[in-house]
Amino acid sequence: MRFDDHRVVITAAGRDFGRTLAIHFADLGAEVFLSARTLAGAERVRDEIRGRGHERVHAFACDLTDPSSIREFATGVARHTDRVDVLINNGSRYLSGPDLLSASDADVVDTLASGGTGTVLTVKNFLPLLLNSPKPDIVTMISACGTPGHHRSDAHDAFYAAKTAQTGFTEILSKRLRPRGVRVISLYPPDFTNPDPLSEDWDKTPRGPKDPLTAQSLVDCILFAVSQPRDCFIKSFHFEQV
Ligand SMILES: NC(=O)c1ccc[n+]([C@@H]2O[C@H](COP(=O)([O-])OP(=O)(O)OC[C@H]3O[C@@H](n4cnc5c(N)ncnc54)[C@H](OP(=O)(O)O)[C@@H]3O)[C@@H](O)[C@H]2O)c1
Repeated sequence: MRFDDHRVVITAAGRDFGRTLAIHFADLGAEVFLSARTLAGAERVRDEIRGRGHERVHAFACDLTDPSSIREFATGVARHTDRVDVLINNGSRYLSGPDLLSASDADVVDTLASGGTGTVLTVKNFLPLLLNSPKPDIVTMISACGTPGHHRSDAHDAFYAAKTAQTGFTEILSKRLRPRGVRVISLYPPDFTNPDPLSEDWDKTPRGPKDPLTAQSLVDCILFAVSQPRDCFIKSFHFEQV
């Protein structure tokens, strides 16, 4: 599976799963446009990827709670390319604590803004570039918390609300963008193990039937979904919890 002809945008790729995706897509030949909340964070991952011999990687700052920052990210990407093939909405602040009263108002605002508003505005700003692609895909890392009736996470209610906002948004987007050739692919994972893809743990993480879901399997799901022929519109991935 190669992605030499793909231009991929990834939000919140300064660490954890976003970084993992950036490293994998670059290793498979894609041109990667990655953002992190700080430019320094994005440049760190860009340099890591360049150190692996991939020059077609670009770093941007993008704070998903700040509409002007999202606009500048899209404008910056447009200076390098007239099309984007895959947009991955990976960024979303996590907030823990099952007690509604445990979080400050500022934390609630920030959590909803990064996951909810930030996702809507990122798609809005990148849609013109996606529509220039012959094979556009929008991939969103939601969460089991975005599934109706889910209650097994210790995440804060505001995180549930942010993930549910992503669910509502991607559901309608999927219907409305299908006629325009854009696939909207959403993942609803429960907590997953997130080893460093450049460490030995990546190949050693247990992946048996009694083990929790791994970042490795989520990368495999995303690569599989975006590499299918266009008639195969995989709309969502749901996972049974252990
Ligand atoms: N890990 C899990 O078990 C799990 C389970 C289900 C779903 N998910 C979802 O999968 C995605 C990736 O998960 P993860 O575990 O890698 O996330 P994570 O470790 O919680 O990291 C969150 C990422 O979001 C970024 N972020 C937070 N606020 C932001 C903002 N205002 N603007 C831009 N970026 C912001 C962080 O950037 P900084 O480095 O600047 O803080 C970080 O890169 C998230 O959407 C998460 O909700 C994760």
